[in-house]
Amino acid sequence: MVEKRTVAFHKPRLDGELRVPGDKSISHRAIMLGSIAKGRTNISGFLEGEDCLRTLEIFKQLGVSIERSGTDVSIDSPGMAEWKTPADALYAGNSGTTARLMLGILAGSSVESVLTGDEYLSKRPMKRVTVPLLSMGASIAAEGPDSDLLPLRIKGMASLRAIDYQMPVASAQVKSAILFAGLQAEGTVTVSEETVSRDHTERMLQQFGVDLQRDGNSVSLKGGQSLAGTDVLVPGDISSAAFFMVAAAMIPDSEVVFVDVGLNPTRTGILDVLEAMGAQIEYIEEKGQQGEPYGTVRISHAALRGTEIGGDMIPRLIDELPTLALLATQAEGRTVIKDAEELRVKETDRIKAVTTELKKLGASIEETEDGMIIEGPTSLTGGTLSSYGDHRLGMMAAIAALAASDAITIEDPACIAISYPSFFEDLEKLTGSEDAE
Ligand code: S3P
Repeated sequence: MVEKRTVAFHKPRLDGELRVPGDKSISHRAIMLGSIAKGRTNISGFLEGEDCLRTLEIFKQLGVSIERSGTDVSIDSPGMAEWKTPADALYAGNSGTTARLMLGILAGSSVESVLTGDEYLSKRPMKRVTVPLLSMGASIAAEGPDSDLLPLRIKGMASLRAIDYQMPVASAQVKSAILFAGLQAEGTVTVSEETVSRDHTERMLQQFGVDLQRDGNSVSLKGGQSLAGTDVLVPGDISSAAFFMVAAAMIPDSEVVFVDVGLNPTRTGILDVLEAMGAQIEYIEEKGQQGEPYGTVRISHAALRGTEIGGDMIPRLIDELPTLALLATQAEGRTVIKDAEELRVKETDRIKAVTTELKKLGASIEETEDGMIIEGPTSLTGGTLSSYGDHRLGMMAAIAALAASDAITIEDPACIAISYPSFFEDLEKLTGSEDAE
């Protein structure tokens, strides 16, 4: 039986301060680089979500000593050359970031391993990473019939060839996998992308002592460099905050202050779009530590208008598009989301899923090949929405309940813990109401 949760509000209003859990992308990379590096790494603000815990468990299986107490993690690593061959398969769960980045890391390690994932991840394409890695001389072979899919067996080759790679898709996961493999390459690896994707890997590599060159949309690093353990502070995840940013912008009389949320410019597309749609945004404080900017931002409701989202903006808000589509149903006029075909290979086909689910509530939304077209404003009814096992779809459904005239029942809401385990507590805190069960 599918687990369900019903969310209902009567004339809601969001108000208060929110500190969202740590950034998922940065948490993964902190565990990865702390384990590749020799010595001690202390992480604070680590995201205790299921995806990041999968990454942490994988490195324990590789013999890295990792202690976690809530959001504090300390890693004592002997360095990558001393990792142990794992007794069992390495399980990435639902996490595409774990799987794709681990492929790059394991390709240049000295261990042999098999990487597996859950039913959803096992359907997601891995060739975007394995093709460039194989051209570097990596040994990666499918255990099943389809060479694009997990499970994959990786025989670590302590040395790889350097490549100069032009990425066909703007993907931080692909870029990161090649840069991680590049640490074990003979020569200089260069990765170029048409549109810059999130750059947490580049920033954190530098923090661990790697000499790396950035030139426009290209990044290069020389293989053979050693990494030294360091302290990493993980700011709040703007992709988690995005659900409540959208809610604050959408619901009349709302005002929410987001404290210490990540403001890396490769991730702040959501703020630019909210502003373009007419929401009120105030930057209260901006800080930067160890290469990752973060700060405090206030978002308040205002009359909203439709907008166009496409081009270079897409990688800067790729994970926020489901909830922005919901917001567009409440804005005056037409919103066009285009150039976002990557949404089709996320945890689920997010173009199809968002369109199908919002239509159930009466939204005027049409699927296109590379996005969605939404006409607003429409009044939304209640209904039963599926999460498709996709955390961001589950949270979109809960936020839709704030605008809907009736209760929304979310099927399989447990997946929300993948990136935001305290989501429902924060929803209750900001609305001051207990959602109905
Ligand atoms: C991520 C990159 C993005 C994003 C994902 C996390 C990362 O995927 O959607 O949630 O941490 O590198 P792509 O690189 O495939 O666009």
